[in-house]
Amino acid sequence: MCARKASANVVAKAVEPALPAEEAAARAYAHDRDLTSHHFSLDEHPIVRIEHLNKTFDGHTQVLRDVNLDVWPGEVVVVLGPSGSGKSTMLRCINLLETPTAGHILLKDKELTGLSASELSKLRQDIGMVFQGFNLFPHLTAKENVMIGQTKVLKKSKEEAEAEAIKQLTDVGLADRADFKPAQLSGGQQQRVAIARAVAMHPDVMLFDEPTSALDPELVRGVLDVMRDLAENSGMTMIVVTHEMGFAREVADRVVFMEGGVVVEQGKPDDVFDHPQNERTAAFLGNIE
Ligand SMILES: Nc1ncnc2c1ncn2[C@@H]1O[C@H](COP(=O)(O)OP(=O)(O)O)[C@@H](O)[C@H]1O
Ligand SMILES: [Mg+2]
Repeated sequence: MCARKASANVVAKAVEPALPAEEAAARAYAHDRDLTSHHFSLDEHPIVRIEHLNKTFDGHTQVLRDVNLDVWPGEVVVVLGPSGSGKSTMLRCINLLETPTAGHILLKDKELTGLSASELSKLRQDIGMVFQGFNLFPHLTAKENVMIGQTKVLKKSKEEAEAEAIKQLTDVGLADRADFKPAQLSGGQQQRVAIARAVAMHPDVMLFDEPTSALDPELVRGVLDVMRDLAENSGMTMIVVTHEMGFAREVADRVVFMEGGVVVEQGKPDDVFDHPQNERTAAFLGNIE
């Protein structure tokens, strides 16, 4: 009985429309001003809006509970939290690898929930994702891995795609590995190819889900350096789930701490790390460091 009531509530939320763009931007401006070291102005709009996001698996396991988060163009948001807190589910809802049970995801003020298959495929070009496992095609070289989305999805010519691939592989320090297959590359190099592949599509936003968690410790640095370079030199908007606290502190504009499917606390890295306001955030950071 209770369970039925709860799910009825969740469904009811879905019919509430997303906020009008101007109102959402004004609210986000007021809310986020002191929570991020990223600079944004009153006439900007958040590039990603997450409004009242709820996700329930199998009708009863509620994994995300009313998550609200706005991300500004060029902002780097690092999401921290214990295993099982819903971080991956949130990222996967942003590009609709998971369908939200209720709530809204908007990219550049365009509602993503409820898109047709073709609109969804277009959307996937605008949101790049880098996973813990690198998911490269094993039979293709590094260069071909970076080219294939460009030729197949963006319909670029082979020459154009190849030039872009070389540029992106150079940016991640792998120009000399362009003709190597994944099996001939270290895990760190494979992950850098995966980043190059995502960046080559020129997405609006890049999502990273624990991109260094599968790597041997000595390979982590190189991947984080590439991500830092992307954040600092290309102005890419990034949402990064990681346990790398040094990266969070140094590169993030904003740190978001999640637990139990809710955003418990968020703020500028130094504020959250040095003066966590919530005892659960403090306990998590205390245990990790
Ligand atoms: N496809 C799924 N079906 C059922 N439960 C899931 C599914 N995906 C994730 N979950 C559950 O949702 C919770 C949050 O998972 P996840 O988002 O992966 O957390 P995190 O990334 O923070 O470790 C976990 O309890 C997990 O078991
Ligand atoms: Mg996860």
